[in-house]
Amino acid sequence: MKLVEKSDLEKKQDVLQFKTDKLFSLKPISLIPPSLNRYNEIFGSCSKDPIYKWLFTKRFPNGYSLEDAKEFFLWAKQGWEQGTHFVYLLSDLDGSIVGSIDIRSNNLELAETGYWVNAKHGGLATNALAKIAEIAKKAGYKALFAQVEAANDRSLKVLERNGFTRDDSLKTNENCDQAYIKHL
Ligand SMILES: CC(C)(COP(=O)(O)OP(=O)(O)OC[C@H]1O[C@@H](n2cnc3c(N)ncnc32)[C@H](O)[C@@H]1OP(=O)(O)O)[C@@H](O)C(=O)NCCC(=O)NCCS
Repeated sequence: MKLVEKSDLEKKQDVLQFKTDKLFSLKPISLIPPSLNRYNEIFGSCSKDPIYKWLFTKRFPNGYSLEDAKEFFLWAKQGWEQGTHFVYLLSDLDGSIVGSIDIRSNNLELAETGYWVNAKHGGLATNALAKIAEIAKKAGYKALFAQVEAANDRSLKVLERNGFTRDDSLKTNENCDQAYIKHL
């Protein structure tokens, strides 16, 4: 199996918010120092719908806590340190975190991606996924795939706008009904 060189992925990019043209930053979490503010921002997004509803209801049925946000942050940092999974955070000009998007494997043949964006900052996911596909392609990945629930219209649209096509043979997550792939 051919593995990615993490130095090919560890790059900061700008992402434009659709309609407002406001600039946000897409940064590898390895470049973001851990702090209570960052944990609180992640907690603020992930503990509320629609992010809690679509991503965490089944995993954290009693709610998403500040401790869960801290664990996510440290797990994501570890991914960069070990070169196994690559989480990027979307932040506004003040550095506050408003979203996350990742490449979940170092396997250049095929890697899963996933994302969330705080509803107050809608209009970022499509453009952020386009950037991630560009970064992944440059780093040598051949394809990205995503798993989604059939009822999650907003996420399906993000994938469609990025040219992902349905391929349920890639489905591994029992909480999702569909899988989509994009060849890079
Ligand atoms: C799904 C989710 C990531 C979408 O985030 P988002 O930033 O609002 O998504 P988009 O970038 O597609 O922006 C949405 C709007 O901007 C428009 N838009 C954004 N970029 C665009 C582009 N390049 N071209 C055309 N339209 C665009 C869309 O048409 C959409 O408009 P609408 O709200 O009027 O329908 C977000 O709702 C979320 O975090 N949901 C919960 C977690 C989740 O489901 N994650 C995915 C699991 S598979």
